[in-house]
Amino acid sequence: MTLALIPRPLAVHELPGTFRLTAESAIAAPGLTGDALRVAEYLAASLRVPTGLPLPVGEDGDVLVALDPSVGEAAGGDEAYALTIATETVTLRAATAQGLFRGVQTLRQLLPAAVEDGALVAAADWTVPCVEIADRPRFGYRSAMLDVARHFFPVPDVKRLIDALAAYKFNHLHLHLSDDQGWRIEIPSRPELTAKASGFQVGEGAGGFYTQADYAELVSYAADRFITVVPEVDVPGHTNAALLAYPELGLKDYQPRQYRGTDVGFSTLDPDNEATYTFLADVFGDLAAMTPGPYLHLGGDEVDVLDQEAFGRFLRRAAEIAAATGKTVIGWEEIVASGVPAEVVAQYWGRNHGRQTVEHGVSDDEFRDAVAKGASAIVSPASHSYLDMQYGPDSPFGLDWSGYVPVRQAYEWDPVGYLGEVEAERVLGLEAALWTETVATMTEAEYLIFPRLPGHAEVGWSSVHRDWADYRTRLAAHAERWEAQGRNYFRAPEVWAA
Ligand code: ACM
Repeated sequence: MTLALIPRPLAVHELPGTFRLTAESAIAAPGLTGDALRVAEYLAASLRVPTGLPLPVGEDGDVLVALDPSVGEAAGGDEAYALTIATETVTLRAATAQGLFRGVQTLRQLLPAAVEDGALVAAADWTVPCVEIADRPRFGYRSAMLDVARHFFPVPDVKRLIDALAAYKFNHLHLHLSDDQGWRIEIPSRPELTAKASGFQVGEGAGGFYTQADYAELVSYAADRFITVVPEVDVPGHTNAALLAYPELGLKDYQPRQYRGTDVGFSTLDPDNEATYTFLADVFGDLAAMTPGPYLHLGGDEVDVLDQEAFGRFLRRAAEIAAATGKTVIGWEEIVASGVPAEVVAQYWGRNHGRQTVEHGVSDDEFRDAVAKGASAIVSPASHSYLDMQYGPDSPFGLDWSGYVPVRQAYEWDPVGYLGEVEAERVLGLEAALWTETVATMTEAEYLIFPRLPGHAEVGWSSVHRDWADYRTRLAAHAERWEAQGRNYFRAPEVWAA
């Protein structure tokens, strides 16, 4: 494919000629209302800034945005779209507003990279190559995670990430909202959490937290881009910060403190204290009430200070309390060994990948067995989809406990194939996860995110055969877009010859 589209669409038929946006161009959205009209307006608004063209949205115009139920008839139909660029017209059709939104991203990628500029670009030629595209996703769950606990990222940073996710057709944003180094979300029934446990982070910084209004703003910004926020409050481990606010919920000898280090596995809520479960009911209840999306993530990873029996006992109750909010519960891979019902979605992260004997957590075999018995999986193997792994020995940021993850490795993996011999229908999709022990700002975070994020986008979206050489060429062309957006990225020699 010569067009630099990421993720690669299902069917692309390139045609001769080009379409040109001009001062006479207009977005036709006849009969559209609500979300679909909003997508047409989003398209117009985002193009007006760099082009300076008026691009009115109305009944007529050369760029037609239309709802068409027939586009959504195949699997993945809610996000399916059809885009036809002819010399005189552009036609974008989808069965839903969401499908239109995904298609808008493809149209943007067909325009010159200058379209990504946040200011007026003089003298650009706003042409689009003629093409017919029919597209829909392979997986319904395509997520990225941001750890805002190890370092706190203010609202504008998260919005900047959401824009990147939207451009690459991700549809979930998982926020890791609590950990040993900070509690980052206001919980009205438990004000001590943010009052006492948000003002620190890894290293020197002052930490921070999202107020209810901040969180609502993020959820709504994401929803406008058809991205669902999945909040995680990690229990029973990774709770040193929570215990600073509520020390009585810890094990008898545990001394909570302002923890600025990066060790894991040392903290836990006490599974034998009834007050622990009242706490969970309050926190999950408030979190569910402020979250319109269907998911609630309760963590469950790296509890190295409880035995398996106590962990299981805690987790079964925690999952029940979380499920009572009406949400679908997600937990990290360790939950498959806790006896929680199969309705709890298990998120594979590969702590023990390749090991037969495991000291903590679960083995790949145990995870596969749970999926065979009916669990659904989100797949995020550290060895491929952890954005915080270093690219190589010279990476200034990142960790290496799961090995280096070069750009090619972040592209050449498959969520179903990785687990091996699991039913494809049980795999909801994937997640690219950014843990932030080593990055304190969005600029630093972007160094780890780009250029690996688009690879995961393609793994999650594209059903077509993936080929590194073809992908690498398309990826290389996206650097211009990130530059126009003012983003930081690692100029990997494997993509851009040194
Ligand atoms: C994890 O990386 N601890 C889920």
